[in-house]
Amino acid sequence: MLKCSAFRQARFQSTNVHFYQNRQLELYATREAKRLSLRQLVFYGRFMSEERLIKSANYVRTELPVRIAHRIRDLQDLPYTVVMQEGVAKVYELYWSAFEKFRKFPQIETLEDNERFCSFLRTLLDEHAVVIPNLSLGLSLASPHLPPDQLDAFMRRMLVSRISRRVLAEHHIALSDFFAGRSHGPSKEERHVGIIYPGLNVEKSVRRCTALLHQLTHDSECPNSLNVRWPEVVIEGHTSTQFAYIREHLEYIIFELLKNAMQATIAKHGHKSDPPSILVTLVTAPDNIGMRISDQGGGLVNSQIHLPSDLFSFSHVRNASRLEQDNLGPLRTASTSPTGMRATVDELVSRWKDEWRQQEDGTPLKNDPELESGVGRHPRLGIGLAMSNIFARYFGGSLELVSLDGWGTDVYLRLPKLGTNLEGIEV
Ligand code: COI
Repeated sequence: MLKCSAFRQARFQSTNVHFYQNRQLELYATREAKRLSLRQLVFYGRFMSEERLIKSANYVRTELPVRIAHRIRDLQDLPYTVVMQEGVAKVYELYWSAFEKFRKFPQIETLEDNERFCSFLRTLLDEHAVVIPNLSLGLSLASPHLPPDQLDAFMRRMLVSRISRRVLAEHHIALSDFFAGRSHGPSKEERHVGIIYPGLNVEKSVRRCTALLHQLTHDSECPNSLNVRWPEVVIEGHTSTQFAYIREHLEYIIFELLKNAMQATIAKHGHKSDPPSILVTLVTAPDNIGMRISDQGGGLVNSQIHLPSDLFSFSHVRNASRLEQDNLGPLRTASTSPTGMRATVDELVSRWKDEWRQQEDGTPLKNDPELESGVGRHPRLGIGLAMSNIFARYFGGSLELVSLDGWGTDVYLRLPKLGTNLEGIEV
């Protein structure tokens, strides 16, 4: 198979400038990423001074191009047919451009330099909002040309690494905003250092996500949702569980899992006056926090699907829905929209609303075997569960699904409590 290195050569042979750029890429790609733990990020950010802020800026400035260089090399190692797919080529261009910009960004020495650096980061974060839909589209289209294991390993590296870069960039921006007095000191309970909440209350996060889902019952823009009887969410176990984590990541996962549990319950029991509740059990163990979400939405009745790897897979061989127009169409739209896809709770909420708005006949949700199974898809993009798995594993956690066929699904989420795990090896 023609490898992308041929493509790389053709592309970079023509001028000395390109040759020079490729030499730079080699240089950065040979450096190892300096992986951090949540604890390091919190400790460093807790006592900010001008000097420490500038040091943080220069760390981000020099670390991100190393991480991007590794991923450009990964892209270059893909077969030519894959890199040329709509979407993949776009991501390749974006990464090259970001790599060059970081490489050329001058050393940060003053707070004014840092302000410029933060606005540079904000622009890049916005520009890269299209990365996930482009990659998903490209890899779905390319999946006939790549063995599923290779495709999934590649996609996992791309997404883990992207999360890591966004965490570093967003954390630095949040520290800078706080230092400059642009963000208010949070209440004790909501205390956070950068984007990390040292005492994140898990029950509150479950309640926040439940409220976001239940809001639809009052949303006149989504008339189809108003006459549906929504399942209650009952929380039991160690309800005072707290740990240090990135709230956005935790809530992304919880929202996605609860949404799937609700969709499955509504699909199976939606017309009953009293659908069975969803049970959330919280547990604090010495090293991790655990959460089990149990629904009675029918379980995973589709025997073609192997749990959970097929649901987390980006390959059409394992998950046929990847090549369905229902998925490709919205990915195409998101891949060219300026807002792209940010993998945030807000975005999950708005896609969930979109889905309800588009239900024409007033039936709650179509009887899709995946939805019936209790492990429904990301609304119309089909990647929410795969993203949740990647978020869970980023600092060494795990996500597992167990189906009681014909009855319901239990999802087990475990996240490390002590914050000492380094970011995943693939950053
Ligand atoms: C991404 O979102 O893909 C990034 O790499 C963000 C980073 C350039 C700040």
